[in-house]
Amino acid sequence: MAFKLIPFVAFFLASNYVADAIIGINWGRQTAQRLLPAMVVDLLLQNKVPEARIYSSQQDILQAFAGSGISLTVTIFNVQNVATIELARKWVQEKVPYFDSANIRRVYLGNHVFRNGLTDKSFLNMAINTLETLQFAINEAGYADQVKVTFPNPEVVIKDNLTKPSEAEFQDDIKEEMARTLRILKKNNAPFIVEVFPISYVTYHNFDPEFAFIDNKSPFVIRDKNNTVYTNAFDFVHDAFVWALIKAGFPDMEIIMGQVGWPTDGFPGANASTAERFFKGMLPYVASNKGTPMRPGAPIHTYVHCLTDENKMPYYYPFARHWGIYRSNGEPKYKIDLTGQGRDIFPAKAKGIMHMPERWCVFNGNDTDTLKVKRNFDEACTTADCTSLAPGGSCSQLSFAQNISYAFNMYFQANFQDEKACKFEGLGKVVTENPSTGRCVFPVEVVKGQQVGDVAADGNRIHYHVPNFGIFLVLVSILWALFCD
Ligand SMILES: *[C@@H]1O[C@H](CO)[C@@H](O)[C@H](O)[C@H]1NC(C)=O
Ligand SMILES: *[C@@H]1O[C@H](CO)[C@@H](O)[C@H](O)[C@H]1NC(C)=O
Ligand SMILES: *[C@@H]1O[C@H](CO)[C@@H](O)[C@H](O)[C@H]1NC(C)=O
Ligand SMILES: *[C@@H]1O[C@H](CO)[C@@H](O)[C@H](O)[C@H]1NC(C)=O
Ligand SMILES: *[C@@H]1O[C@H](CO)[C@@H](O)[C@H](O)[C@H]1NC(C)=O
Repeated sequence: MAFKLIPFVAFFLASNYVADAIIGINWGRQTAQRLLPAMVVDLLLQNKVPEARIYSSQQDILQAFAGSGISLTVTIFNVQNVATIELARKWVQEKVPYFDSANIRRVYLGNHVFRNGLTDKSFLNMAINTLETLQFAINEAGYADQVKVTFPNPEVVIKDNLTKPSEAEFQDDIKEEMARTLRILKKNNAPFIVEVFPISYVTYHNFDPEFAFIDNKSPFVIRDKNNTVYTNAFDFVHDAFVWALIKAGFPDMEIIMGQVGWPTDGFPGANASTAERFFKGMLPYVASNKGTPMRPGAPIHTYVHCLTDENKMPYYYPFARHWGIYRSNGEPKYKIDLTGQGRDIFPAKAKGIMHMPERWCVFNGNDTDTLKVKRNFDEACTTADCTSLAPGGSCSQLSFAQNISYAFNMYFQANFQDEKACKFEGLGKVVTENPSTGRCVFPVEVVKGQQVGDVAADGNRIHYHVPNFGIFLVLVSILWALFCD
């Protein structure tokens, strides 16, 4: 037994990991109405979350995090914005005041550059050059040890027909570029970021659904080289990347699990109770510093994906909008102990949320002209979020007429109950009786507070103001933000 531990001990000594695994959280804002940054900081502090990732590097958000003690990972989606040394230096100059005050630790560059790089090599090479340039500009400013630039990596960057982690290697098409990236990361002691969504991973690989959970209750396990045994997708994917890195010549590069989530709608098996079970197993597992079969005892920094639902996520797949621990109104959906102690508790509630009145928009039932009905349904769902209607979703059991009502209401609420948004060529009507049925909730929107247009460009300080919409807003307008990343 002891001799087998030798490589692991060596691995430990060779790496410079901190002692404990950290559980962070991602906060995306592709939503119609957004929790204000200050409110989110408050939520994270109440839940004792030590690290967060945001999907921008906007000054107003950095400002809210400043002094909170929470460590931050920021994102630069548009690689072009920092693609020359001048632009990189300008970015650093703007953000440097926050490097210390908002405790910025990492910068994630691009939106899955290696996924796009599978088809666009010149873009990928530009992104890798930018990684190097931006890190150089950061190092030049004296933050080489604190702020690391890296790319987040979805599973598709490794060959996708794995039956065992040890089969993993980076896709042939990007091997060379990945090697160059890894050399840059290594030189700067920056981590490698992995994203995994076990619910879809097991479906896609035809593994037993139980394999998605840490507390796998089935006999289904995967045995691999070096006496390793896999009982769950989290370890499996982590170690697949360990093997891919070994084969690429970087056996001891730190891996951070940058997005690990479980949706609650829009996919078979996606609901609040399965999400609760998933995190109830996973977070204490991470906090235990048990490591994985290939890296026993090594802490795995893990980011829970994500804070709130994002009803404006692009419609790549129906569950894309349902990853939140919280609904978009700041109510937790299920019990989760974000400290990893496994306590049976709900996370703290966002404070001060106000709802619009109890009013819904529904289909009046006139289906004489089915094309017209269909057209209005499609129009509503183009802008509003109808993903709960998808197979396996919480509203997948509705009748045809209820389907139409659901769509009309989502559109009406997304327009903050503006009666003009319930016309639908004479097919819609406003009601005060709640049309929700079974698991399917017809939501009532929260009161909006801030108008689009407050944010001109990344970097502008935002001045909150109180717009005029009737009786609701006095109390709440300061609590909600509505602007684009
Ligand atoms: C995966 O697919 C590649 C090429 O499509 C093939 O060379 C390889 O043997 C496959 N691996 C497994 C484990 O099936
Ligand atoms: C796996 O085990 C073999 C044989 O004991 C050993 O040579 C090799 O270094 C191990 N691989 C890893 C990645 O630990
Ligand atoms: C959640 O999904 C699981 C797995 O498919 C299922 O057994 C359970 O009944 C679902 N729970 C609810 C409340 O729909
Ligand atoms: C129902 O819709 C048809 C076609 O759009 C319209 O001609 C008719 O007047 C409507 N009926 C009622 C009762 O509104
Ligand atoms: C309701 O809408 C969903 C999504 O468009 C569709 O999959 C489903 O078949 C519809 N149900 C009925 C009864 O029309």
